[in-house]
Amino acid sequence: MKVVAIYNLKGGVGKTATAVNLAYYSAGQGYRTLLWDLDAQAAASWYFNTSQKKKLKVTKLVKDKVPLSELIHESPFSNLDIIPSDLSYRNLDVLLSNTKGNPVRQWLSALGEIYQVIILDCPPSLSELALEVLSASDLVLAPAVPTHLSFETYRNMEEIMGEKGISIDKLFPVLTMIDRRKNLHREFSDKCQKLIGKRPLGYIPYCSDIEKMGEYRAPVGEFAFRSVGNLAYQLLWDNLNKKLKQRS
Ligand SMILES: Nc1ncnc2c1ncn2[C@@H]1O[C@H](COP(=O)(O)OP(=O)(O)OP(=O)(O)O)[C@@H](O)[C@H]1O
Ligand SMILES: [Mg+2]
Repeated sequence: MKVVAIYNLKGGVGKTATAVNLAYYSAGQGYRTLLWDLDAQAAASWYFNTSQKKKLKVTKLVKDKVPLSELIHESPFSNLDIIPSDLSYRNLDVLLSNTKGNPVRQWLSALGEIYQVIILDCPPSLSELALEVLSASDLVLAPAVPTHLSFETYRNMEEIMGEKGISIDKLFPVLTMIDRRKNLHREFSDKCQKLIGKRPLGYIPYCSDIEKMGEYRAPVGEFAFRSVGNLAYQLLWDNLNKKLKQRS
């Protein structure tokens, strides 16, 4: 089992869109895949239409030691399950802070027999949950818009991981919402490796088909297969898959 966190301190940078499309491609290639929506905003759950279903609150995992399997829902796609989120996730941090060890790692390892790939859609915060996720994941993808501030935030993330003894070798930028008509986006996309020392694992253009995921409530490949946005996510999945294989 491999765990991939989609994480950035910054909000609104395409984390959820990335998590949803990667989970879709992972499952499409036959890997038993779980998408865990860890954000109380529940956007990933909403895309898969699981937000209205009856759910157990995540706090039960910590307080009542309910098995994680009871939180898992089927998605409309074969090989793809989802743990949806809800507002109770806003209390998860406090609960985790009062618990010894790394419960997130324990929950994930319990799923190792069932899933080959687990994708975590993380909230934009630096919290106990984020630190446990960063520590327990095999790879961390940081969606980032190619601008000064985003790259500065990426460096901050490296610093925080370093301080906490978490290897930055597992952290990779994914450039998102790239608008090549903008000089800054072109420059930062082309010089990413020089500017932050890592080659991006993917380049996702600004694309209205990706925005339309909200309208169709589905991954972009389901309704706009030929879209450049879909192609970009396919290429990202291919690169991610190669990295995952290198790590096994
Ligand atoms: N490549 C893209 N092109 C155009 N729109 C995009 C692209 N990626 C994401 N969006 C849109 O931008 C908005 C934010 O995207 P998303 O929800 O994936 O970001 P996020 O980082 O998960 O946000 P949050 O921090 O609030 O969880 C959404 O409306 C989404 O449809
Ligand atoms: Mg999100």
